Amino acid sequence: MANSTLEPPGAPGQKPAPKPSLVQALRSIFSKTEDPDESRTITRRRRFVMAAVLGTLGVNLLMFLRFFFPRALYEPKTKFLIGYPSDFGFGVDTKFQKDFRIWVVRNTEGIFVISAICTHLGCTPDWKPSENKFKCPCHGSGYDPEGINFEGPAPRPMDRAHVELNPEGQIVVDLSHLYSWPKGDPSQFGDPGAILRNV
Ligand code: FES
Repeated sequence: MANSTLEPPGAPGQKPAPKPSLVQALRSIFSKTEDPDESRTITRRRRFVMAAVLGTLGVNLLMFLRFFFPRALYEPKTKFLIGYPSDFGFGVDTKFQKDFRIWVVRNTEGIFVISAICTHLGCTPDWKPSENKFKCPCHGSGYDPEGINFEGPAPRPMDRAHVELNPEGQIVVDLSHLYSWPKGDPSQFGDPGAILRNV
């Protein structure tokens, strides 16, 4: 009868060697040894284990912190007050460009608000007081002080926002309601709400 202890490892019928438990594996990694080769191997393993532990802790910490910063979209307000009609003199007022991306314009007919979005590809044009025009820095479209395109690739004038007075007499701008002048179609710039007349 064959002695099973003489069979090569993995031979049929031989029991597989028991796997070391986690504690035993860690003990082998953190135990001391006199053999320099084995010592280097153990050092590498220690570094690997430490990197894995620190990586896991780091990911968990990030997930924990993420809990306090919910993914929220802070959309700019579309309806807001800009002051009284008397706050705006003749011409183009750019003070709300940064916060609301609009210009307030007073001409001989009244006050209206231009949405500062180029009708070519959506860049924000610059107001050039010395040239009395809006100039888009992206592809060179030019608009007169009322936002009407006259040069460059812009296909139509810039849109205007709905304006009305609240009970206190302040101007309310509503960017969710725009008036436009599509190419080949009638202008909406004379519609009620597109301009505040006689103010
Ligand atoms: S986006 Fe203004 S000219 Fe192209």
